[in-house]
Amino acid sequence: MEKPTLKLYKNIENNKKMDYNSRNRLKITKNVNTCFGREGCVEKMSKEINTIGVLTSGGDAPGMNAAIRAVVRTALQHGKKVKGIKKGYRGLLDEEIIDMNARSVADIIQKGGTVLYTARCDEFKTAEGQKLGAEICRKHGIDGLVVIGGDGSFMGAQKLAHLGINTIAIPGTIDLDIACTEYTIGFDTAVNTAMEAIDKVRDTSTSHERCSIIEVMGRRAGYIALWCGIANGAEDILLPERYDHDEQKIINRIIEMRKKGKTHHIIVNAEGIGHSASMARRIEAATGVETRATILGHMQRGGSPTCKDRMYASIMGAYAVDILCAGKSSRVVAYKNGEYVDYDIDEALAMKKDIDDYQYDVSVLLSN
Ligand code: ADP
Ligand code: F6P
Repeated sequence: MEKPTLKLYKNIENNKKMDYNSRNRLKITKNVNTCFGREGCVEKMSKEINTIGVLTSGGDAPGMNAAIRAVVRTALQHGKKVKGIKKGYRGLLDEEIIDMNARSVADIIQKGGTVLYTARCDEFKTAEGQKLGAEICRKHGIDGLVVIGGDGSFMGAQKLAHLGINTIAIPGTIDLDIACTEYTIGFDTAVNTAMEAIDKVRDTSTSHERCSIIEVMGRRAGYIALWCGIANGAEDILLPERYDHDEQKIINRIIEMRKKGKTHHIIVNAEGIGHSASMARRIEAATGVETRATILGHMQRGGSPTCKDRMYASIMGAYAVDILCAGKSSRVVAYKNGEYVDYDIDEALAMKKDIDDYQYDVSVLLSN
């Protein structure tokens, strides 16, 4: 697979603007006034970045604080001013903008949620809202922006980049549904939280010899369901990407497994399929097996981030600032094939992602 980052770094290198350190991470040798267009060509950036803004948008995700902390401290290290924009694009339009220093991000790496707060903002989906957002950035001297959020937030970042604000996006969502990256901030914590909760439901399910349907988050994507399904040893794993809506098949399996002596039946159902409560009623009526539905809900979004989320979010935050200061704009930071890389935001948003066939086949095989 082509490594866009390395190619672009090479472009920069050829222009003798920067070099690498031994670990292949950018080492800035001096400030550069260049940015990169869609084809990776060098374009003139309007002016050098002095002030970097940072915001979190969409659903909060554990590890966002680690990313904010890394953005702030790396930017300060580069000699930039830092402004925190509260409540995502809503706060940008309302000018809820604060100065940040190294102390503003002390004692937050271990905390869930986001200290900058987050929001959803329909006004920002309009051309007027986006234009106003870009004007407010200019008014506050924000000439570089780091957006931490999911693919909806990326679309907002893309619009700001097209309006001339140098913008870098970092994937922050528990759903893992961003195509260009194998890692998104918060997924690891969320999936561990859900796994522990499902283990607990399993104990009571076994004691009562029940069937339990546990619904996990993920919006339209089934990654949390797939990972928990495998990690919790579920008997059925229902993913929006694969579910054939054949409930009779599930009912037959429950009856068959009872005959084989199984004392419980765990169904991990993805939010994208939903309807867990009515499914439970139908399954109980058809099988005679007591069935309960548990919707895990927002507990999956909270809690102290795992080591992985703190670590990856920290690297991504630093990386975003490094490439911004190196003259890149309109990029998405990603983790691919064991490396931190960055993609053009238009290309990243056009990419498609699906459940891995092999992982899905294994999940089916192991649930029998
Ligand atoms: P996430 O970022 O987690 O996917 P959402 O899809 O709710 O969450 O998006 C978060 C916010 O991003 C929205 O409330 C809106 O302000 C902004 N956004 C979403 N889609 C667009 C779009 N097409 N254009 C501009 N901004 C958008
Ligand atoms: O994107 C994260 C997520 O938790 C999804 O899994 C879920 O569909 C959605 O956000 C829930 O959003 P809200 O917090 O607005 O209910």
